[in-house]
Amino acid sequence: MFQQTAVLDGHELPERACSDQAQGDWAMAGSLRATPELQALHALPLWPLPTLCLLLGCFAAFGLSAYGMVEGWMPIPLGIIINGLAIYGAFTPLHDGTHRAVSRNRFINDVISTASGQLLLPGCEVAIYRILHLAHHKTTGEHHEDPDEPATRSLSGFWLYGIFLEFYWVHWYLKRFSQWSAAQNARVFLGSCLMASWYAIWIASPWALECLLIWWIPQRIGAVLILYAFAYIQHPPGVEQRAYPIRATGILRPNKWLGPLMLGQNAHLIHHLYPQIPWYRLEAGWRATEAQLLRRAPPIRGYWGGWGQDAFPNTETPWRWVRVAATEDIAQDIRLFTFESASPSPLPIYEAGAHIDVRLEPGVVRQYSLIGRPGTTGRWQIAVKREAGGRGGSIAAHARLQQGTLVEVGNPRNNFPLQASAGRHVLIAGGIGVTPFISMAYALAAKDFALHVFARTPAHVPFGQAMQRFPFAARIQLHCDDGKGFENSEIADALGPYRAGDRTYLCGPAGFMERVEAVAATAGWPAGAVVTENFSPLRPSRPEAPFTIELARSGRRLRVEVGQSIVDVLEGERFSVDTVCRQGVCGTCRCRVLSGEIEHRDSVLTAAEREEGNQILLCVSRGAGNGLLVLDR
Ligand code: FES
Repeated sequence: MFQQTAVLDGHELPERACSDQAQGDWAMAGSLRATPELQALHALPLWPLPTLCLLLGCFAAFGLSAYGMVEGWMPIPLGIIINGLAIYGAFTPLHDGTHRAVSRNRFINDVISTASGQLLLPGCEVAIYRILHLAHHKTTGEHHEDPDEPATRSLSGFWLYGIFLEFYWVHWYLKRFSQWSAAQNARVFLGSCLMASWYAIWIASPWALECLLIWWIPQRIGAVLILYAFAYIQHPPGVEQRAYPIRATGILRPNKWLGPLMLGQNAHLIHHLYPQIPWYRLEAGWRATEAQLLRRAPPIRGYWGGWGQDAFPNTETPWRWVRVAATEDIAQDIRLFTFESASPSPLPIYEAGAHIDVRLEPGVVRQYSLIGRPGTTGRWQIAVKREAGGRGGSIAAHARLQQGTLVEVGNPRNNFPLQASAGRHVLIAGGIGVTPFISMAYALAAKDFALHVFARTPAHVPFGQAMQRFPFAARIQLHCDDGKGFENSEIADALGPYRAGDRTYLCGPAGFMERVEAVAATAGWPAGAVVTENFSPLRPSRPEAPFTIELARSGRRLRVEVGQSIVDVLEGERFSVDTVCRQGVCGTCRCRVLSGEIEHRDSVLTAAEREEGNQILLCVSRGAGNGLLVLDR
């Protein structure tokens, strides 16, 4: 039997996900991360041929051009340009190396990336740049927090930042001095001393002019190119990844001349969502996820000019007052609410699949799909399933929203639009997950579509047998199992065989959707043809239990309480932990487990890795039960 939870009863936000948009973005990124295509793109070689070729090519170009400049056969301006481009190119392995996306062997990863960084930041090892770069990933777009943000704010900021890069970074680091571990501070101190010595030596040497022409000016050119390609044209200013994980980073429109020079960063959004995909697979990552990610409106721009207005999400939900015109119990624990405008202006029309925010109490906002014929004005309808064990939103809705009650709602938004398609549309709902499909069914009336609703009994489905009154009743098929459980074959029959252009849309409890997706994959449906809208928690809603971790290298034991993650506990004790998403999607916080049972809550590990049981994602996964988890730290 499928778990009958009211997935449309709002979002169960993890502590740090600050909006439904962020939660929805990470949920989508997580479900894509678990697909075989993305898993394959994350599989790293030991010796990365494309990266080694790039690095050797850049070093060879730099060395040859420098030699030519000294010998006099390379024109100085041309040599400066070649060296600037070589420094720009060699930055890419350093950039990948911060995410350990160069080689699956950490030592090889760090050696290659440290070597590649020497042209840009002489004397610095990758661990130093990792501190800055992971901070950029965690706080993308945040004023004063994101170390790269000044380069995105304005053109003048970009130039200033490019010229005084090292000074800005040192200032940024020192302002946060107390938050770094002693080991990090020691590494940064040593790297800074080496770099300062390098500058001092060549300035004092008799070859200062040669060094200026061969290295320093090209290094500034390289830094400016890097900032342009990796920051300025990638992040719309002021759009924070914390609130808009998919909209805070762009995708560049194809350009056959400049595209190859970007070394994969024309799909920089893929790098921000999945930073452990190496540069030479980023475009493949975009191709594998494009159909799904486009539905979350990532900003798309060209190589020149500014951002379009559509790159800036409307960060304010315009709220309006509506009156509850009627309520009706339409299934077991499910109530239909009809809203009418409380002002002379009519309620706006909405698209098929749209939802609204409803402010049920101060600080309690939930999302519900709009039910009915899209494109009509006048009244809005939502259905809410009362969840005794929920977070209180549905109980508040059932208790508070009586006929005549005034309530605040947001404008309709659509994260689940119908996709233009020449083929068949198959709508598959688990219980109350049918609500967005009613407006979709109206919109699809003239097309080839079917609506399948899976539930325990008709009494568990909004409208139940009354669905037969809908004009599209002939297209609806109700599947009831009386609590015995559905066979995969029944789901496969509902899906039918895949033909090019077909689409299936899923809505329901997370477990239900995962199962339908698995059946669809087995039946030959490509991932891009399966469209999901899931307002339910990204993580399993299994209750948490406290557990203990042991840090093998020091023998220290720490308790992880309910509501805390391992990362929270480690950071509370001033251990440095590399993190980016803190949602179990990016893979940055992966750690080896020496013993103990793990409750995996991430989208990163493959089934085989889970089976082995010796890796954990520290930001979301937990120790199973009350047992002890020994970490290789
Ligand atoms: S920080 Fe991204 S998976 Fe843990």
